[in-house]
This record gives sequence, structure tokens and C-alpha cells, in this order.
Amino acid sequence: MKALVLAGGSGTRLRPFSYSMPKQLIPIANTPVLVHVLRGVRDLGVTEAGVVVGDRGPEIEAVLGDGSRFGLRITYIPQDAPRGLAHAVSVARGFLGDDDFVMYLGDNMLPDGITGIAEQFAAHRPAAQVVVHKVPDPRSFGVAELGPDGEVLALAEKPAHPRSDMALIGVYFFTPAIHEAVRAIGPSARGELEITDAIQWLVSSGADVRAGQYDGYWKDTGEVEGVLECNSRLLDRLGRRVGGHVDDASVLVGRVVVEAGARVLRSLVQGPAIIGAGTVVEDSHVGPYTSIGRNCVVAGSRLESSMALDGAKVTGVLGLRDSLIGRAALVGTTGAGADHHCLVVGDHTRVEVAA
Ligand code: G1P
Repeated sequence: MKALVLAGGSGTRLRPFSYSMPKQLIPIANTPVLVHVLRGVRDLGVTEAGVVVGDRGPEIEAVLGDGSRFGLRITYIPQDAPRGLAHAVSVARGFLGDDDFVMYLGDNMLPDGITGIAEQFAAHRPAAQVVVHKVPDPRSFGVAELGPDGEVLALAEKPAHPRSDMALIGVYFFTPAIHEAVRAIGPSARGELEITDAIQWLVSSGADVRAGQYDGYWKDTGEVEGVLECNSRLLDRLGRRVGGHVDDASVLVGRVVVEAGARVLRSLVQGPAIIGAGTVVEDSHVGPYTSIGRNCVVAGSRLESSMALDGAKVTGVLGLRDSLIGRAALVGTTGAGADHHCLVVGDHTRVEVAA
């Protein structure tokens, strides 16, 4: 089985971060989403992965390389524009050949693994097997209607009136039967070739299409709230590892990772939390549920349930919570005695100050 990982989407819901980085590279617990995804793919025993990329391809390639770091051989497949998930399958036709494959959306996190569902697919080899998860409001997802034995009776993409609470969560197993379906469908109302429509085409033509239910933690990291929540959940799974320098005046509580080359001075770090390599935390209180990237400075500040990406600087700011601070961004205080806020805020940024 091969893997097809989709990393071509434009990420409008993750602005402003997606202006300067592909959304699939946003770090979760200091590791890009796409790296988490590739590890998940590797856990299925797959060794050959195609990664479909758009105009941000070079940045993705710079991070993933040839894949050998993850035990994979990666082929990069360009997609001229995000024209839909089924379109991505069609541009990857040459790479996929006549092999079965798992398709994995590069911004979906399923950290509890899907090896059980992959085994079901390998054992029964239906034309397609979708991965579903019960959600309270399925209207913003693909939705599957299932029969008693997990057979898929019908599918709909983002239905206004969902007929089930089973959402498609970004992982699909396919036999080569999908290629005929992809050729048969036309664009949806949003102008994309939907994989949901291609799978529905298989169902309508009488093919065996099944669903495997994933009951673990799932998150689409396509928007800021999802990124913060997913970060907290992954930090929860970290152990304690202290590779950097922690001075005698500092206290680490619980599951805290201090990467090699990081320095924690006169501070309290409350786990779960991670402090990236090259970062200095001084006179601060960090955590719980906080990740600080690499080469950051956190001084005289208090952050919780937040993320600071590589190179960010937070100085003299108390009470940051539920915040996502971009790469090399500065969050600081105006000079002594100043009675105003000074903001240099980029496009589609959100700033909320306490009233
Ligand atoms: C896509 C699929 C949808 C699926 C979702 C999972 O939606 O079209 O069926 O439920 O991914 O994240 P999109 O993110 O393109 O809106």
C-alpha cells in the first residue's frame, strides 16, 4: 500500500499564519502537523508516500526532505491550485499506479492511530474504506450514512441537514477503483472535485464501500482554535525530559520538556509544557498547556494555554492565555510610564486585550 498525503490547501482559515507558512507546517507540541501525519502513515507499514503540494511546495520539501528521517520515500507531486481532494488523486495518478493507497489530509491529526482500520481494509479490500468519527455538529464535514455492518449507504459533503453524526475525518483507504470514480464526477458547488462525491459515485455504482470508526482524539488543525486545542491534547501525552539548563531558582512541575540548548532561569514552568531548543525563559511563569518554540525569548511574562512559534519574543506581559504567537513576533510592553497600547498588527490578525 502507498500513501497519498495532501498538503496543497491554501489555509485561509488559518490566517495570518498561513500567509507566511503552509498550514500543514504549523507546529503541534513543537512538531509540524505534517510530521505527525507522516509518522501516522509510517505506523501503517507504508514506505512510499506521495505528498501533493501547491505553491508552498519548496517550504514543505525543506522540512520533510526525502522522507528517510521518517522511514519513508517521499515523492512530491505538484498541484497547480487547490481544486479539491479528488483532483489531488487525479494529479497523483502516475505515482499511485494500480496500487491500493491510504489518502491522508495533511492537516488532520489522529494521534491514537488507525492501524486497526488499515487492517480491516487489508483483510476485506472493499473498493473504498472511509474513516469516520462521531461529532456533535457534522455540517462542516463530509457525512456518511452507515448500515448495521459499517457499510456506507450514502455520503454528503457538508450537508445542511446531516442524516447521521458520522463525519469523514480526512483519512481514506482506496483500491484503484477510485480512479474511475474521480474521472466520472464534476465540480461541486464550491468549484472543487470532492472526494466525497467520488466515493458516493462508487456507492451508487454498487461497489463495496465501508467505514471504520475512529474513537480516539481527532482534530482538523485548519483553524486557530483547533490548533490550540490539539496542542494541549498532545502536550498531555508528553513525558518529562530535561535536556537544557534549568537554574536552581527555577521550578519545573509535572510533564515538562526542556529541549537541549534551552535555558530556564528564575522561572516556574508548569507542565504539560515544552520549551524549544535555543529558547530563554527568564523571570516568567509558563504553562500549563503551553509550548514555546525554538530560539524564543520569554522574559518577565506569564503565559498559559498558549503557543509561541520559533523566534517569538514575549517580554513583560502578564496574563497571556489561549494565545497563538507567530514566528519572530514580538509581544511586549510600551516604555515605562506609557499609557497607551502600541500595535503593529498584520492582515487578518486578531488582538484581544483585557477591558
Ligand atoms: C475536507 C473534506 C470533508 C472532510 C474534512 C475533514 O473538508 O471535504 O469531507 O470531512 O476535509 O477535515 P475541507 O477541509 O476541504 O473543508
